[in-house]
Order: sequence, then C-alpha cells, then structure tokens
Amino acid sequence: MVHAQNVRVRTTELVAIDERRLLRRLNELSQRGAAPEGGITRLLYTPAWVSAMELASGWMKDAGLLVRRDAVGNVWGRVEGSRGGRAIVSGSHVDTVRCGGALDGALGVVAAVEAVTSLVAAFGRPTRILECVAICEEEGSRFATNLWGARAIADRLEPDEAARVRDGDGVTLAEAMRGVGLDPARAAQAVRRDIDAFVELHVEQGPVLDERGERLGVVRVVAGTAHLEVTVRGEPDHAGAAAMERRHDALLGASAMVLAVAEAAREAGPPAVATVGTISVEPSQVNVVPGLARFTVDARHSEERARAELVAEITRRCKVVARERDLAVEVRALRDRPAVTLSERVGDVLRRACLAAGVTPRDMTSGAGHDAQILSVAASAAMLFVPSIGGRSHRGDEATAAEDVVLGTRVLATALRELAYEAPR
Ligand code: GLV
Ligand code: MN
Ligand code: MN
Repeated sequence: MVHAQNVRVRTTELVAIDERRLLRRLNELSQRGAAPEGGITRLLYTPAWVSAMELASGWMKDAGLLVRRDAVGNVWGRVEGSRGGRAIVSGSHVDTVRCGGALDGALGVVAAVEAVTSLVAAFGRPTRILECVAICEEEGSRFATNLWGARAIADRLEPDEAARVRDGDGVTLAEAMRGVGLDPARAAQAVRRDIDAFVELHVEQGPVLDERGERLGVVRVVAGTAHLEVTVRGEPDHAGAAAMERRHDALLGASAMVLAVAEAAREAGPPAVATVGTISVEPSQVNVVPGLARFTVDARHSEERARAELVAEITRRCKVVARERDLAVEVRALRDRPAVTLSERVGDVLRRACLAAGVTPRDMTSGAGHDAQILSVAASAAMLFVPSIGGRSHRGDEATAAEDVVLGTRVLATALRELAYEAPR
C-alpha cells in the first residue's frame, strides 16, 4: 500500500537500514508463539516468550552490542558512548495479547535493534550511550497486572506485587519469574535512573493514519486507563423449578450493566471508550441460575477529568441496574494509569526525522497504552506511529504495509542518530 506524502524540504539525511533483515526478523519473531487457533500468543515468562527473548538477544549479540537481561527479564543491547552522558534508548514490548498480531510491540523491538545495528555499522561509536531494549511485558495478558517491564525500569512496581499477582491458573508472578531463572526479590534492580530519552516506534492500532492516507504520526498524549472489576451478587436457583419472576439472576443484571457501560462511553463521546473484556459466572453450570457474575471494565480517555467522570458514570449506572433488579453490586478499582503527555523535545527530534523522509507527521493521541507512557516518568519519552491497515490490532490479522514498517524504522534510526551522535547533556 503506498500512501500520499506531504513533501517538505529535507533538512537531515534519512538513515539507511537493512530492510530485508528488518522484515525477515519481524517474520521470524512472529513464529515465536504462533497460536494454533490463529495469531500470536506470547505471554510473559512462558516458553514462547523465552524463545522470543533469546531471538532478540541473539540479534543484539550479532550486532556486537553489550547484551544483558535485567532483574525482571527485559533484554538490553548497549553500545557505550564515547562521551558518556545519560543513555538514549529505543524499544517496545515482546509479549502479546492472546491471539494477537505480529506488530504490536514486536515492531518497536525489531526496529530498535535494526536502528541501533545500522547506526553503529554506518557511523561507529556514538557520543552518547545508545541502547535497544526488548521489554518483557506490557499487555497484562497473563497476570492480573500490566506494563510490568516498563514499571520495573521506572521504579513503579508495587510492594509485594510479584508475590500477590496471579495468572488464571493461580501461578504467582514470583513463581513464574523463578521458572525462567529470575529472582523476584531482586526485581528492584531493574530500575534505571540514567536514561535521557526513550523513543518507541509502534503501529497506530487505530484507523486515523490509514484512513487519511498518511504515513507517520508523532504521539503527543497517551490516554489514561482505568481497570475496574464489577461483582454482581444475586441468588443461585434451579433452572427448571424457579419461575422467571422470582429469580435474582446475577448474569442478567451483569448483562444490563455491560450495555450500560458501553452506553456511558457512547454518551460521553469520543475519545471516551469503555470495554467489558472478561466475564465469568458462578456456579457456571448449565442448569443453575447464576448467583454471581463478575466482569472487568477498561475505561479510557485522554483527559483526566473526563476519565474520572466516565468511571463515576459507569459505577453509577451499575448501581442503578443492581437496585432495579434487587441485586448487590461491588465496583472495585483494579488499576489506574493516568493520561501522559510525552516529551516535546524528543517529539521534535522525531518530527525532524519525519521531515527528513519528506513526510509531515500527524500529531496524535494514542488510545492504546504503551511502555512510553510509563517510561515518561523516568526519561523524556516520545512515540512514532506507522499506520495499521484498517485500524486493526489486538487480533491476528493486524498488518502494516512493508514500506511503512521500513519508513518508520528509518525515521526512528534518524531520530536516534540526532540524539546519540551529538554532545552529551
Ligand atoms: C495495550 O495494548 C493496552 O492499550 O491496553
Ligand atoms: Mn503495544
Ligand atoms: Mn497491545
């Protein structure tokens, strides 16, 4: 797919990369965790994840980088700068959602390795420390937490989190860490306080660039996310003997609440969004009226006040439904990630690099969450978006045109060149 370009005067030269290696590696990575039911399932600390991390680590070693795995399993490839200073870092996450796509996270990892490899090959040792990183986890697909890798780097892990948080089989994060040779007691050693800039290339995951025929976006704001758990309690009953009008069916109540959640976001208007992504019932038997239903809500908005109002409205509507149906409801906050404004300075570096490619980038707000939003507390963080065909993401058929993957990586490399091959701060 070739998009129209807004051509401007070229101010810098676009850095060359090995396009075939980049595309080949993306394809290779997509084999690690390829799910029989379609898409890719690469969950934290599972064999597919270990295999993907080994692959990324091998690429970094092939480039002659100094490679290390940190205390939570993030893998770093580093080249020392001739004049030291704080590090310039690029990367993204290796994990996926269940049956996810080949680019969400993976593109940012493969592109960062390619950019650093190509820069060092072409220009030699940088003046600044230059690193690529494969971040261990962002999605929250296995454990009841998310952004684990970036939060470890940014010193944002919660006390006892690894011992407390479990996956669907009851395995704690700490146990899973031990399973891949990591010591949960040392998780705090992953903290970095010496990063100057973090730059993440990512697929947009929405339709804005693709629909407009634009090729690059620079993110200004990443929307905030609230995760809630709603528990609805009614009474279990006999599916044959209990008449319809005397039941207190928790699932019927939850169903009305799910509709009310979506309605609250629709009425709030864009960019408000709310999703019920999981639901379970108890006792979960074909001939028993559900006595309990539990579902999660993911509610997002790029403005903090509007996000708080959305959460309050969702809570209010769930309570109204519960009252109407004579059910009990409890709404519990699981986690809260505030909206983040990314670095103007590093964003400008990306904008200049886009112009070097002859493309005026679109200013964007990301509805999706990203490692950069967490790393913005530890560094000046910026993000570059390339189009997602049809806006598709978090699904197996997520795709971006090869020429956009290449362009995004060249622009990333160009930005890293400006950041790492100049005087230290
Ligand atoms: C991850 O992709 C998220 O936005 O939750
Ligand atoms: Mn992602
Ligand atoms: Mn994702």
